[in-house]
Amino acid sequence: MAKKSPSKGRPDRQIALDPAERAAQLRAELNEHSYRYHVQDDPSISDAQYDALLVELRALEAQRPELITIDSPTQRVGAPAAAGFAKVRHVRPILSLSNAFSADDVRAWRDRLIKYAESRAADLPLLKAMADLGASLVVEPKIDGLTVVLTYENGVFVQGATRGDGAVGEDITANLRTLKSVPLVLRGAPAKRLVVRGEAFVPLADFAKMNAQLQSAGEKTFANPRNFAAGALRQIDPALTAKRPLTAYFYSIVAAEGYDLPTTQWDTLQWLKQLGFPVSDISRRFTELEKTLAYCERYAVKRDSLRFEVDGMVIKLDDLALAEALGYVGKDPRGAVAVKFAAREATTVLRDVAISIGRTGNITPAAVLDPVQIGGITIVNATLHNFDDIARKDIRMGDRVVVKRAGDVIPYVAGPVVSARTGAEKAIVPPTHCPFCGTELVRREGEVALYCLNDECPGKVDRAMQHFVSRGAMDIEGLGEKIVAQLIEAGLIADVADIYALRQEQLLALEKFAEKKAQNLLEAIAVSKQRPLERLLIGLGIRHVGEVAARALARYYGSIDAVLAANLEDVQQIDGVGPTIAESIVDWAQRDSTRALIAKLQAAGVDPQQDVQRAPAAADLSGPLAGKVFVITGTLSQSREEIAAWIEARGGKITDSVSKKTSYVVIGEAPGQSKVTKATQLSIPMIGEDALRALFP
Ligand code: IVH
Repeated sequence: MAKKSPSKGRPDRQIALDPAERAAQLRAELNEHSYRYHVQDDPSISDAQYDALLVELRALEAQRPELITIDSPTQRVGAPAAAGFAKVRHVRPILSLSNAFSADDVRAWRDRLIKYAESRAADLPLLKAMADLGASLVVEPKIDGLTVVLTYENGVFVQGATRGDGAVGEDITANLRTLKSVPLVLRGAPAKRLVVRGEAFVPLADFAKMNAQLQSAGEKTFANPRNFAAGALRQIDPALTAKRPLTAYFYSIVAAEGYDLPTTQWDTLQWLKQLGFPVSDISRRFTELEKTLAYCERYAVKRDSLRFEVDGMVIKLDDLALAEALGYVGKDPRGAVAVKFAAREATTVLRDVAISIGRTGNITPAAVLDPVQIGGITIVNATLHNFDDIARKDIRMGDRVVVKRAGDVIPYVAGPVVSARTGAEKAIVPPTHCPFCGTELVRREGEVALYCLNDECPGKVDRAMQHFVSRGAMDIEGLGEKIVAQLIEAGLIADVADIYALRQEQLLALEKFAEKKAQNLLEAIAVSKQRPLERLLIGLGIRHVGEVAARALARYYGSIDAVLAANLEDVQQIDGVGPTIAESIVDWAQRDSTRALIAKLQAAGVDPQQDVQRAPAAADLSGPLAGKVFVITGTLSQSREEIAAWIEARGGKITDSVSKKTSYVVIGEAPGQSKVTKATQLSIPMIGEDALRALFP
């Protein structure tokens, strides 16, 4: 192996080398560059320069096939396995881990260890040492991928296997060879044999990209990165595995011959790295359990900002001899424990598809599920996004499906478990007519959702009113979902302006309306007349106009009459209002129905005015959030305005809708479904309010 530093991708030879020497030099250089790229994260040449070296080596090997070696980077993609995967018996059992679900579970694990150590202290002095002194602990991310076991003979990668049942796995050497993060030759002095264990996975960003590509090609998508990685590793043709963006991290030595092995887990990680294996850089060593737990907790919060999916953290005793002496319970070593984060997915049966309608008339399918627990909450409904998505994922009625839930986010059906099909599952057929008013549904150009265009559709009117009275809009206390429905049903309200014409005797005639309740509601309605213009604009539900655009419009125009008189050129000038929003506002303002409704509201005394403020506020370019774009959804501990001000004061920007430009979606209680869906599709991190403040204090 070349000791000199790698060349810059140019063969700067003074004397022409013979082909065998040049091939050896190219192999060494390519492997060195691969190490710098995949392990050190510090490439010294460009991808194009790397490719140029590879092309040169390929050409040499084509002329002189006898120069090809098993560790040549040209050999990463080999021929398909003729008869499926051979079985591989592991040299030692590939163990599992016991789980802890809380900090107390981990403390109990530690107490059990100490008790066990004390009880056996007489025969095992090491255990006594632990009981007396306490031991260092190493924390690593628990990557949600697939265990791989790699064998090196004399420093050369010769076999790669899956975990299988822990005793026997499958030989996936050819596929693992295609992973650039798997070193083909080890660095340093090679010894007889080394067997290492790691986790193969697909980074989240690559997963999202691949799924989006599959989706646009009309192919089936994958429910999670783990399924995707599993499928990729079990391809019969390694050329197909090579096309999937798989990578791996390594964390333990299964067996070794001839090597002087490290005695601690921490040193093992450093040693593996020196040999050329990629190792996670978020692993840490601690001497106190409480600090270890605090570190795990940090990642429970930050989990969405990692580049790979984690389902927890692993805490391991640092002292490997001690860990070994403690032995196993079943397949779980006593000396390590997995601290699981709240589950984010589970499988259950899809029983039915319920249809709901939004205030803009968009029809959305929702899954009716057999109850299932995810992260301590029982889920019976989950979103199915839209009918195109159902077809693409081939979700069928009666399917066992993967349901996901991230934090407070609305659960959604990620995909079917195809292997669990019985044949009794039935296709899901999209509706052709609105289930609320019977009008034929349409599809707007460029959109996937189905729409009911009937402005008088009772389903739509009901949703529009609910939106108008909601907390982020006119905030009329006591006018919840049920009462809105009751008032529509009784024929007392047909549009939002009718709310302001309600009289006490009308309310008293309704079921469950006593004097006090009627009085309170009328007072709340009267109070809402004073809400600022921006809240009224939000409440009116103008297409594409969310909080941010509503605030900008209110500041710029100052009154609803001025908004109604807006022209396209003028609206487009407003900071925070793009062309789509501008068109939508002008279109809305010019409709007769809009003018009639506004006149009715104004007559009822709903006509907020404010000072016009046309100069945009200067952004703080030095703040910790400078350049970051946030979208807020759901109810947070403070008002949206306060959270927005907090973000803006730190240089961040707020927008209404989730796009590729969004840095974070801040999720509160009952977040908007479409925002969550979009963020999931684009792999934009969704964080809670606590995480926002923790990440950017
Ligand atoms: S240690 C004796 N460390 O989690 C060693 N496992 O639930 C046992 N995993 O099958 C495994 N990241 O596939 C270990 N840093 C890590 C891990 C890790 C992911 C997986 C591994 C294992 C499963 C146990």
